[in-house]
Amino acid sequence: MDVIGEHVALQRRGKNFLGLCPFHNEKTPSFNVNPELGIYKCFGCGKSGNVISFLMEHNGQNFVESVRFLANKAGITIPTDDITPKEQEQQNKTDLAYKALQSALEYYSKQLQTKEGSSVRTYFLNRDFSADAMQTFGLGYAPDNWSATMMYLIKQGYTQETLVDAGLVIEKDDGKVYDRFRGRAMFAVHDSMGRVVGFGARILTDVKDQPKYINSPQSLVYDKSKILYGLFQAKQHIRQEKSSIMVEGYADVITLHENGFRNAVASSGTSLTNEQLDVLSRYSTTMYLVYDGDAAGINAAMRGVELALNKGFEVNIVTLPNKEDPDSFVRRNGAETFRTFLRNAPNFIDYLSEQYKQQGMLATPKGQAEAVRTLVKLISLVQDALQRDIFLRSVAQRFSLQEQLLYDELNKIIPSKSLVPVPQQYQQKKTWIKNGNKRELLPPAEKLTIQQSAITPEEKILLKIALVSPHGFMMMEEGFAVSTDTFVTTEAKTIYQAVQHAHHHGVEVAGHVMMNEALDQACKNIIGELLFADEQLSSNWSNFDVELPQLDIKKAISDSLLSLSLIKVIKQITEIQNKLKENDDHDTILAYMELVKRKNAIDMQLRGITIDEF
Ligand code: UTP
Ligand code: MN
Repeated sequence: MDVIGEHVALQRRGKNFLGLCPFHNEKTPSFNVNPELGIYKCFGCGKSGNVISFLMEHNGQNFVESVRFLANKAGITIPTDDITPKEQEQQNKTDLAYKALQSALEYYSKQLQTKEGSSVRTYFLNRDFSADAMQTFGLGYAPDNWSATMMYLIKQGYTQETLVDAGLVIEKDDGKVYDRFRGRAMFAVHDSMGRVVGFGARILTDVKDQPKYINSPQSLVYDKSKILYGLFQAKQHIRQEKSSIMVEGYADVITLHENGFRNAVASSGTSLTNEQLDVLSRYSTTMYLVYDGDAAGINAAMRGVELALNKGFEVNIVTLPNKEDPDSFVRRNGAETFRTFLRNAPNFIDYLSEQYKQQGMLATPKGQAEAVRTLVKLISLVQDALQRDIFLRSVAQRFSLQEQLLYDELNKIIPSKSLVPVPQQYQQKKTWIKNGNKRELLPPAEKLTIQQSAITPEEKILLKIALVSPHGFMMMEEGFAVSTDTFVTTEAKTIYQAVQHAHHHGVEVAGHVMMNEALDQACKNIIGELLFADEQLSSNWSNFDVELPQLDIKKAISDSLLSLSLIKVIKQITEIQNKLKENDDHDTILAYMELVKRKNAIDMQLRGITIDEF
């Protein structure tokens, strides 16, 4: 209740509390909290759960992080077993660094209210940052002094070592120490859970040989490749808006938030990384990349597009007029104009084609070919086969090229895109139909044997998802019409049935299935293996839904299903081969050829190649 109340304004309604749902956009409250049972349910979007699932969903924390977070709040230390003294020491250092950074934030924001800090306060006000924004984003002032911050924090009980760990204090080789941030406007950098991990410090007046920003270093708590500036403040809005706006600077994020674009985040200084995109994809996979129109901006956009496509994002590119950044643009032209820019933002194909045109690249056949190749290369990064198809057609149309030509080009690039590796024995690509000689129709028999006893790798993946991810299970049932028939081994069928049963009764699935009396020991062993031996599937799969970006789940499901259908077709082929030995009438041969064709088509699909007729 306390935890949820921090994130949602709640009002008492009888036994329950009611508020606006943080998980979807609504005007009338339908988010109910029952403090007695410690559970919530939204009657608008259907999300429900307890404190822990709330934190997982709302903060993007995993289960362990959520439990730690709660324990921390309650002042409980969770004993961690299997932790070496060295790891424990590291953990303590990390905890202290977080605390010191939080205290530093409080100090800097207090300094903002002092006489000395008034120049920074004026500076922020001149940029139209409201008092509210100063609070939300942790803005402050670092006194123009070599040790004021350090002295304050040491008085608070922190050691010099902790302050160095936290990146607040610099230690020179000769052992002398001094404050890193002096006489600057401070921007706190939070991680996605709202912990302060560092600061950006802006100079107030341009001084030669002084960098505009001094940033906290990479540290125990600040991994720059993973942090997106503003994500903590934006994440809820990214989820509601179903998109994020990616900008470059601290000021851009704050000004956009202040103007109603509360889904803005920044890579702040560093170029966008894969890890940042992974974190962001927990909230939405539609992104507006905003860059300025100069050469550096275009290059950054190119790189951003490539990474984001590769991570399954739908990317739209907003180009601002030269020399403008989102902050200056919105202040000059207003929020509505920026909104129009967002609404009209081209996708990567339209954006790049326009760039190429402006660079004169499309004037020669050679330049055109190069442009098309680059586009096809980018299309090859798109995970969704249907989307790839649509993009390819749009390029064909735009450049008046035959679609087939582009497909050929695409097929050259796409390696096996399948997440589920195709088992070696199915990877043969021989054409079995030769010379019309029906004996040669038969593929080598030993290559087609399927192990009937053990559960297959793709069954494992599907069952694992069904066991640990309610969202994934729903996707399987509703999106892919998975049923017990989908599976090929008896064990997998039985386990899936138990999972279905648990889901339909709304009970905690993994535990329920583990306890299910109807399952024999063989099935229980498999379940145990699925739940506890993570590395068998993928090292970053753990027990919890949020750790799996939805996109990965979807791809894992569809790849596994494809793999399973391949196994089934191969099984049918084997059966019909036996039939052919006795009876090679026309119909059977036709049926056989049809199956082989299907097998080849699935084969191709598993390699990420789509064929129209299939
Ligand atoms: P900008 O120069 O556009 O910064 O750099 P800004 O935040 O918009 O600053 P204003 O509007 O001039 O106040 C974009 C980002 O690049 C990083 C910062 O993260 C900044 O927000 N940067 C820039 C640095 O790290 N160091 C610098 O010296 C300059
Ligand atoms: Mn700026």
